[in-house]
Amino acid sequence: MDRGEMTVPQEEMARQAEFAAMVRALPHRPGSYHVVTYGCQMNAHDSEKIAGMLEEMGMVASEKREDADFVIFNTCCVRENAERRALGNVTWLKEVRKQKPDMVIAVCGCMIQEPGMAETILKKYKFVDLAFGTANLHKLPEMLYETLNAGKQTVNVEDRDVIAEGLPVRRLRQDAAYLTVMYGCDNFCSYCIVPYVRGRERSRDPETILREAEELAASGVKEIMLLGQNVNSYGKGLPGNPTFAGLLEKLDGIGIPRIRFMTSHPKDLSDDLIDVMAKGKHILPQFHLPVQSGNNEILKKMNRHYTREQYLDRVSRLRSAIPGIGLSTDIIISFPGETEAQFEDTMSLVREVKFDSAFTFIYSPRTGTKAAEMEGIIPDEVSTERIQRLISLQEQLQQETLKRFIGQEEEILVEGLSRRSRLAVSGKGRHAVSVTVEGTEQDIGQIMKCRITNLKNNTLAGERIPGGKA
Ligand code: 5AD
Ligand code: SF4
Repeated sequence: MDRGEMTVPQEEMARQAEFAAMVRALPHRPGSYHVVTYGCQMNAHDSEKIAGMLEEMGMVASEKREDADFVIFNTCCVRENAERRALGNVTWLKEVRKQKPDMVIAVCGCMIQEPGMAETILKKYKFVDLAFGTANLHKLPEMLYETLNAGKQTVNVEDRDVIAEGLPVRRLRQDAAYLTVMYGCDNFCSYCIVPYVRGRERSRDPETILREAEELAASGVKEIMLLGQNVNSYGKGLPGNPTFAGLLEKLDGIGIPRIRFMTSHPKDLSDDLIDVMAKGKHILPQFHLPVQSGNNEILKKMNRHYTREQYLDRVSRLRSAIPGIGLSTDIIISFPGETEAQFEDTMSLVREVKFDSAFTFIYSPRTGTKAAEMEGIIPDEVSTERIQRLISLQEQLQQETLKRFIGQEEEILVEGLSRRSRLAVSGKGRHAVSVTVEGTEQDIGQIMKCRITNLKNNTLAGERIPGGKA
């Protein structure tokens, strides 16, 4: 399928807008909504689109799910526990609905896109009114209209890789925004379900992305987070073969104060990208670079297409081009057959790199992936013990790495009041580390200059630099 066919035609988007108006005009439509989101930033952004569409249909946000007339679960299936949690919460709502019989319940997202899940929903979760996969998101107005009219379960799962432009977005934050650059993933890491549920890689047109970024800039957004499962392979299949590095350079020229992106695959991290980051004015000095394992045999079995040595080379290139860069990673332990020595290779890589933060996961078999067929399942006790060792090593190293910020100036985008003190606010610095500073509600959404003064329990604290609003 070429890109032209992937993009949902304008006429179809207009048809959906008509359905939205029809839902709005229905006398018994839901008046309020609540979106429950699981998983990654992609899902969080999809939820913003869902909220945007529902508001177009006349609904208002409800803070609590049990108070809403329409509750939608935007699910994740990357690891089994995310899936279990979602299904548990959906089932819990069935009880709530006994008191609120008009409540409409919908389930969408990656989990629905899993093979066999639609049938399961039809049979086992009969109380779910509407279920649809990631490729159908833009059809929510039509699906909801049918559900409300027909009064029977609607299940809609399509396998098509689409790009739907122009959906309304109800942003979670006014100061920061997500901006998707590409959808899907072609990497097929052997443990990962994403390529099966999010489809093939497809990149958005660079001009459309730039226009969206300009609109965000004009609306006063201070930070954009560029999204893609593998942003480094942006541009594949587009006319003129644009690259992520090229796109980032153009975005940097718009003048939005802070630009971040995720996720990157080490095998596709080009020198060009590092150079653009080093030269950029607004691209933040931070990088999320999932390593997954420090052992070459395991990396091979994971189908990651790089070695430990190549990963370390990328890290040193990043660090020499962008001194002090904030580095974070994802790690999976207990991949099938992982020996103690192989796990120790991951520990030694963590010791060597000294990440600012690491997201650590115990391997979770996903039906349909290559790894799910592999032998050598690691017993739970071994996994629990290994992950504890890894987490405590990371915490201990973090104490060291974060010390480099003490005495330094940082610029934070204030996210909210600190959880520890009512007279303090916290936000992310340019290097992606959280900093707590004295402040009030009025500082939320502002960029604040501060000097880091100390580190307590792996949390940095700073002092505001007077007049230091950036
Ligand atoms: N089991 C455990 N962790 C997984 N991840 C992806 N698939 C699995 C799985 N089957 C982790 C990877 C990825 C992160 C988003 O989730 O570390 O980078
Ligand atoms: Fe999954 Fe690998 Fe694609 Fe990341 S790069 S989404 S881990 S298949």
